[in-house]
Amino acid sequence: MRTVKVNTSAPYDILIERGLINNAGQYIKNVTNAQKTFLITDTNVEKFYAEKVLTSLKNSGFDTDIFVYEAGEKRKTLSTISDMYSRMADFNMSRKDIVVALGGGVCGDMAGFAAATYMRGINFVQIPTSLLAQVDSSVGGKTGVDIAQGKNLVGAFLQPILVLIDPDTLFTLPEYYINDGMAEVIKYGCIKDSALFKTLENENALDIIDDVIERCVSIKRDVVSRDEKESGERMLLNFGHTLGHSLEKIYNFDGLSHGQAVAIGMVMITSASEKADITENGSTERIISLCKKYNLPVSDTADIKEIVKFCANDKKAGGGSVNLVLLKKIGESFIRKTPLGELENFIR
Ligand SMILES: NC(=O)c1ccc[n+]([C@@H]2O[C@H](COP(=O)([O-])OP(=O)(O)OC[C@H]3O[C@@H](n4cnc5c(N)ncnc54)[C@H](O)[C@@H]3O)[C@@H](O)[C@H]2O)c1
Ligand SMILES: [Zn+2]
Repeated sequence: MRTVKVNTSAPYDILIERGLINNAGQYIKNVTNAQKTFLITDTNVEKFYAEKVLTSLKNSGFDTDIFVYEAGEKRKTLSTISDMYSRMADFNMSRKDIVVALGGGVCGDMAGFAAATYMRGINFVQIPTSLLAQVDSSVGGKTGVDIAQGKNLVGAFLQPILVLIDPDTLFTLPEYYINDGMAEVIKYGCIKDSALFKTLENENALDIIDDVIERCVSIKRDVVSRDEKESGERMLLNFGHTLGHSLEKIYNFDGLSHGQAVAIGMVMITSASEKADITENGSTERIISLCKKYNLPVSDTADIKEIVKFCANDKKAGGGSVNLVLLKKIGESFIRKTPLGELENFIR
């Protein structure tokens, strides 16, 4: 068993082990006095893992109910949350009972938000089953939903009381989503860990995925515990995301996945900073090769003017400038506040 301890305002453990999902109930029992657990999952994940987790929860003495929503980002809405509240109330959940998220990032974000707001906040446990959720979204405490005006515009910070990562669940994850999550893995190597980057270059990440997951969550843990509410260092996690988000918006969140957009964003920004002699020579080439190795795109035909226009609308762009995350070299990153007026020239 690998344990990553997280020391945020409320400390918790991230446990990583193959087959862990079958003993989820026992591990959850160790960290809560709850009598009831409300398991939230989606229609895809339900088929593979709901029965295992439900059985384990029941065997550990929990009174358990399950809520299943139709898989996909489209259901990450307040309307789904509202359905959850009703079901939680019908299940007579009290403030000491807990929500358990079993699924990808959509599931964790919604279950966390429901837990953060039901009865002004109850505890929740994350069992992330997508690579993206295992290396990224299950750590850090951000929860929320989309509204018509934008993704993740409504949300709350809530740290889970436990994160259970079973890398074996990735065997059923479609390759498309494996690649999507790999973009975030490559990002961690770029911003903080040249050794991880080298490992990804030399080996097949899936062969050593337990190590990779542990490395990534440790990096995110370190960054987040130094900056829980995202005022400084946490912005480094946005490497490739400023331009990536713009691309996602240009394509209306359809056609390019988040990871694909981030891959293109990492290449674009590093290519620009390398030309400006900010980033060590050859870095862009290495990022391109690594992205290609994991079937991620490395360029796009979208108009640069258009990309910059969408950067300006980003909720994180304040006062006419963007906080660009740039690399000094692979494994070393920093933030540079850049006026929007200069952005187009910089990335052209
Ligand atoms: N809270 C955060 O810090 C944070 C960070 C990054 C992304 N996110 C959010 O995460 C979401 C994207 O995450 P995602 O890609 O995991 O989305 P997701 O939850 O929709 O999962 C992707 C797909 O994989 C399926 N799936 C998940 N695990 C599976 C498994 N083991 N076997 C088979 N199928 C499986 C799901 O049913 C879904 O179809 C976005 O909504 C994004 O905003 C949040
Ligand atoms: Zn991301």
